Amino acid sequence: MIRPDLTYTPEIEAATADIYDKLEPLMPVLDWPEIAPYIYHINRLKKERNAVILVHNYMTPDIFHGVADYVGDSLGLAQKATETEADVIVQCGVHFMAETSKILNPHKTVLIPDMKAGCSLASGITAADVEMLRQKYPGVPVVTYVNTSAEVKAASDICCTSGNALDVVESLDSDTVLCIPDQYLANWIAGQTSKKILTWAGSCEVHERFTGEQLRAYRTKYSGDITIIAHPECPPDVLAEADFVGSTSGMIDYAKRERPKRVLMVTECSMSDNVAAEVRDVEFIRPCNLCPHMKRITLPKILDALLTLSPAVEVDPELAARARLPIDRMLAVEPRKSSKVSKLAKAS
Ligand code: 13P
Ligand code: SF4
Repeated sequence: MIRPDLTYTPEIEAATADIYDKLEPLMPVLDWPEIAPYIYHINRLKKERNAVILVHNYMTPDIFHGVADYVGDSLGLAQKATETEADVIVQCGVHFMAETSKILNPHKTVLIPDMKAGCSLASGITAADVEMLRQKYPGVPVVTYVNTSAEVKAASDICCTSGNALDVVESLDSDTVLCIPDQYLANWIAGQTSKKILTWAGSCEVHERFTGEQLRAYRTKYSGDITIIAHPECPPDVLAEADFVGSTSGMIDYAKRERPKRVLMVTECSMSDNVAAEVRDVEFIRPCNLCPHMKRITLPKILDALLTLSPAVEVDPELAARARLPIDRMLAVEPRKSSKVSKLAKAS
């Protein structure tokens, strides 16, 4: 396919004007002539390719507001991947998300604009580790966070995301559950269930850097006039300081619904930018922790992926069939109403 001319023309200016209006608080007008042609040609090409662009909440605002067909958390993206009629899925997120889409769509082309977009949780556990845990805790069901490889999923009983982990754990007919590999997500679940939760020493390199002390300093700085919402991958002292804990989409829904005057989203920094573009009456305080893996995905790489239909994610069909079972089991779990707004009991 021919590489498009990336000149900023009056046609491109007109076609992208609505998108710029959204991005205007975040983006200097001088930058737009460089960015708009990418957005324009990606949106044109995705129609030609019958492609759908699934975008995680941590993508930068130009991707999130410019080219997404669907934005969401890991659960939402996996659900969308089961519904799409497109021939090509472009996954703007990290590798485990694209792999999940491929497992759910073995006959579609699934592209990830940068193959190196990994995840510290996914690289922190192997299928052999899961087998070792099964031998150590015979008969205990294994709930595996979707932030894992296909091999680890295939060795598990059921998957979960931060959006449904409690529902998944509660759905199991066992008093003890292995909830791996994120020790902090597991700990957060343990605080909300009567089941005994066993875990693994994995963590997210982005969320583990936040501290309760940091958040208390923000509360002092703003004389308590600040709402803190956090992702469950954060350590317990951080979650203890939060007014609300939820998945990335849960956090966004909370900010849109509750409209706090001032909010601190304790998570990857692009998310505050993405919500701030839409929710202009809320002041966002941004302690910035970037996910280096998510930030590998850029507009030029998305354009390249659509032009070349690569890099494509491949999963061995036999492995994909085994990894699909725990994902399908997860997708079949009915969400309990209370889990939609899981407010953490404050420590003080
Ligand atoms: P969500 O499923 O909440 O979007 O989380 C995915 C993730 O990688 C957070 O770091
Ligand atoms: Fe993985 Fe953390 Fe990045 Fe999410 S933010 S993709 S859990 S490293």
